[in-house]
Amino acid sequence: MLQAVRCGWLQRAGVELALLRLERIDPLISGNKWYKLAPHLAEARRLAAPGVISLGGAHSNHLHALAAAGTRFGVATVGLLRGHELDTPTVRDLRAFGMQLHWLGYAGYRARHQADFWTPWLARYPGYLPVAEGGMSLPAARSCANLVGMIEEGLAALGWPDYQQLWVAAGSGTTLAGLVMGEGGRHPVVGTLAVPADHGVAATVERLLAEAGASPGSGYQLRDASRGGFARLDATLARFILDFERETGVPLEPLYTGKLLLALQEALQGGEIARGSRIVAVHSGGLQGRRALDARLRELAGLF
Ligand SMILES: Cc1ncc(COP(=O)(O)O)c(C=O)c1O
Repeated sequence: MLQAVRCGWLQRAGVELALLRLERIDPLISGNKWYKLAPHLAEARRLAAPGVISLGGAHSNHLHALAAAGTRFGVATVGLLRGHELDTPTVRDLRAFGMQLHWLGYAGYRARHQADFWTPWLARYPGYLPVAEGGMSLPAARSCANLVGMIEEGLAALGWPDYQQLWVAAGSGTTLAGLVMGEGGRHPVVGTLAVPADHGVAATVERLLAEAGASPGSGYQLRDASRGGFARLDATLARFILDFERETGVPLEPLYTGKLLLALQEALQGGEIARGSRIVAVHSGGLQGRRALDARLRELAGLF
């Protein structure tokens, strides 16, 4: 699962990189999604809930994994979607997986943080387990903490005695908080923000760490990797992704993993990481979301 990757910019910086290739754990329930969903699915089973209800956008990796898990494990799923009805590859899959969809508009979706948001939905779907956007919860973060053990197990096969930093993309901050818990201060965790810095990731990470009884504000740092906004693409990012894929054979998507590794490249070029360092980065999946962006990536990279 932990794999060393080689490419020109890493070599020039004298830094080694290993990817925790979570995108390969399952063709559908892949990346960090499995780790975040597993405790929710276990809770639904414990409560004998008739289904699970959650939220996301028209390209949501979280809803995609939840819908796939629903079909696989025989759990009914409901997806509340941001905005107005769109036909995307993700939405087509959600329907094919049997997820019941409701489009909330933009204002309706913004209401998701209000205390009574779930009341009408739970009246409509009695007994369903509500799961926050991105699967965010303390049990989800704790589940992601186990990834650190997976990294440790993979080090020997690489011949690495240790690593100096752990990098991961952050959307809600759940996975990052889990890794900080799992590391317990042994290695600094760098969270590259896929969303602008004012989107509350720092507050979520701090809240989850406090709930877990971990020391707040320590063991991690956040870097804005959003490049102007969530899902904002540009030519530099597009060329970086396509070059990285060609050189390493590892597929990326532009919202999380592409921006994560581009932020790492920028840190190396800025001399922020010492030569001889060994870095682990989490490949958190999300490749299903790339389908709708493939043509745009090629166009931005000047390939047609
Ligand atoms: C592919 C991918 N990577 C990383 C993340 C970020 O995870 P988290 O929300 O736990 O910060 C997400 C979505 O949430 C994602 O879909």
